[in-house]
Amino acid sequence: MTAQLFTPVRLRDVSLRNRVAIPPMCQYSAEGGMAGDYHLVHYGRFALGGAGLVILEATAVVPEGRITHGDLGIWSDAHGDALARVAGFLKAQGAVAGVQLAHAGRKASMQRPWEGNGPLSEEEFARGEAPWPIVAPSAIPLDAGWLMPAELSASDLDDLKAAFVAAAGRAQAAGFDVIELHAAHGYLLHTFLSPLTNRREDAFGGERAGRMRFPLAVARALRRAWPAGKPLFVRVSAVDGLEGGLTLDDTLAFAGELRALGVDVLDCSSGGLSGSATAARIRRDYGFQVGFAEAVKRETGLATMAVGLIVDPRQAEAIVAEGRADLVAVGREALADPNWAVRAGRALDGTEEPGFAAWPRQAGWWLERRE
Ligand code: FNR
Repeated sequence: MTAQLFTPVRLRDVSLRNRVAIPPMCQYSAEGGMAGDYHLVHYGRFALGGAGLVILEATAVVPEGRITHGDLGIWSDAHGDALARVAGFLKAQGAVAGVQLAHAGRKASMQRPWEGNGPLSEEEFARGEAPWPIVAPSAIPLDAGWLMPAELSASDLDDLKAAFVAAAGRAQAAGFDVIELHAAHGYLLHTFLSPLTNRREDAFGGERAGRMRFPLAVARALRRAWPAGKPLFVRVSAVDGLEGGLTLDDTLAFAGELRALGVDVLDCSSGGLSGSATAARIRRDYGFQVGFAEAVKRETGLATMAVGLIVDPRQAEAIVAEGRADLVAVGREALADPNWAVRAGRALDGTEEPGFAAWPRQAGWWLERRE
């Protein structure tokens, strides 16, 4: 019997060869936001490794929306052209090409993780990597010692929404078939949703409906701009894990609205709102976020992607087979082994001598004849 994980799935007019996705993972390896050889090889390897969907890392819709100087961007047509090379290769190898559209909000202007993971400092300034002014729904910094964000005005929000729409146009021109809107991990849209970071007194703050207003407006604008045949994903932090923060109830309400406006998949992550000094109380164990994907799917009928410490083929298979999520994203385990999907296919094959038919023939032909 074919593993459920390896049954194709159709989202609008786009078919995925299986349910394994590579979630967005920042590589901090771009210059001036441009994709280069590194990105082609890095992302290309996941397509060769059999993933059904490869979602490129958080890609900034405006330069100030980058987390670090190394983030990818999609704020000009030249950026779109550079990404087209990556999308084209993914598709040529049978994967669906996705890109996560992002704005880092108050978590912009940071050091690369391996350079400190803090706010940009004098040291980077000396190297020509200057900090830049950051923005957020309210003037609340990430933590003590971090940059103070400026509160966005209503007209700033119009401009940002337009930047997301322009980015979607470039993603379409570049050949991507999936867009994921980043509304998780303490970046701009998440900080609108959470009562801890949104203290606005205008229509974009206050009660839940007000806090959802801007993220929903962006999702709605993207849905209009993005071709009707192509799926739109949204990534959320399903809970903040902080006193007074976002709860699963908030997320279910948001998911219901997203579904109504034509979002196709909710990618269910969690946490990331606060700085390290006030870290979230979320226990990280195998499949620790699957319950969020399951609840959203059950309560709202929206398709979901589960993510977070999904490492084993049988674990991934059970999530799909039990109907807890429609797609399973494998992040760090795929960094360790970009062939995760084709190897999972063999592990779940069930026949006496699983072959290599699903592998790229450049490898599979030889492996089949090894013994
Ligand atoms: C991430 N993650 C992440 N999430 C996101 O929404 N946008 C991003 O750009 C990134 N960047 C990123 C970089 C790196 C190096 C890692 C390891 C992670 C989170 C990622 O998509 C995923 O949700 C988590 O890694 C949990 O899944 P795994 O790794 O346990 O399978």
